[in-house]
Amino acid sequence: MKSIRSLIASFWRRPFAVERDILRRLASRYGLRPPSCDAPSFAAGEDVRAPAGILNRSGMIRLAYEFLNGNIMSGDYFEFGCWGGRTFRLAYEHHKIHFQGRMHFWLFDSFQGLPKLDPIDEHPKWKAGDLCTALDDFIRIVGDAGIPACSYTAIAGYYEHTLTAELSANIASKAKAGLVYIDCDLYASTRKVLEFMYPMLQPGTVICFDDFYCFNGSPERGGQLAIREFLGVHRDVRLVDYLNFGWHGKSFIVHLSGSDGAGGT
Ligand SMILES: C[S@@+](CC[C@H](N)C(=O)[O-])C[C@H]1O[C@@H](n2cnc3c(N)ncnc32)[C@H](O)[C@@H]1O
Repeated sequence: MKSIRSLIASFWRRPFAVERDILRRLASRYGLRPPSCDAPSFAAGEDVRAPAGILNRSGMIRLAYEFLNGNIMSGDYFEFGCWGGRTFRLAYEHHKIHFQGRMHFWLFDSFQGLPKLDPIDEHPKWKAGDLCTALDDFIRIVGDAGIPACSYTAIAGYYEHTLTAELSANIASKAKAGLVYIDCDLYASTRKVLEFMYPMLQPGTVICFDDFYCFNGSPERGGQLAIREFLGVHRDVRLVDYLNFGWHGKSFIVHLSGSDGAGGT
């Protein structure tokens, strides 16, 4: 399957319509999305395999920007769990349509892989140190993709050290969140992220939980547990259901009691 994907991707760069037609047929024969802005060559396997008509990560991020633009909102992009920069590259690419030059990208990762797992986060797929991209490699990858260094701030380190109340207040004094992309897999990490982001939330902030349906979709683990606990502490925050994406993700729109805003089409 991997070689069919790379074959399709390498041919896609060639401009001839007849080749594109062959590629479309090949992709459809193998149940893949043909290379496009919804399935660029660096896309994750589940984004390529997501059946046409099902939103994947790329589509989710694009729609979130449409939501922000349609509601005349502004705000920065925050990503928690950056690994090899795939979602960041999608987020950067799509922001150009409406938000070029008007959005800063805040990126948070250990750049040393997953932390030591608490018992509640044990999972056959993950162990401490997995999913590691060193900061230097990350900077090179996104630089090669044409993303200027001034457009983002990468905060490296485990969240227990980096997601401090001081940093949260400092960022909140200059930025609000437009789109928050949480892709750090674990309950313990997601719980810290939500607490950190609280001061940056505004009515209409879109929050995407990439791992909402991990841990067999259990409400007692992972992102779902972190969300429930967060909402239990912060009674002024409401999360309005927005969109499911892929087999794994779900997004919400933030509302804050006492400070609501409304936009139109
Ligand atoms: C699934 S990967 C992220 C995938 C990424 N969004 C992409 O574009 O491919 C999960 C990431 O979360 C990070 N992570 C998870 N828990 C963390 C924590 N407590 N502190 C710092 N980084 C964490 C890991 O280092 C890893 O890079």
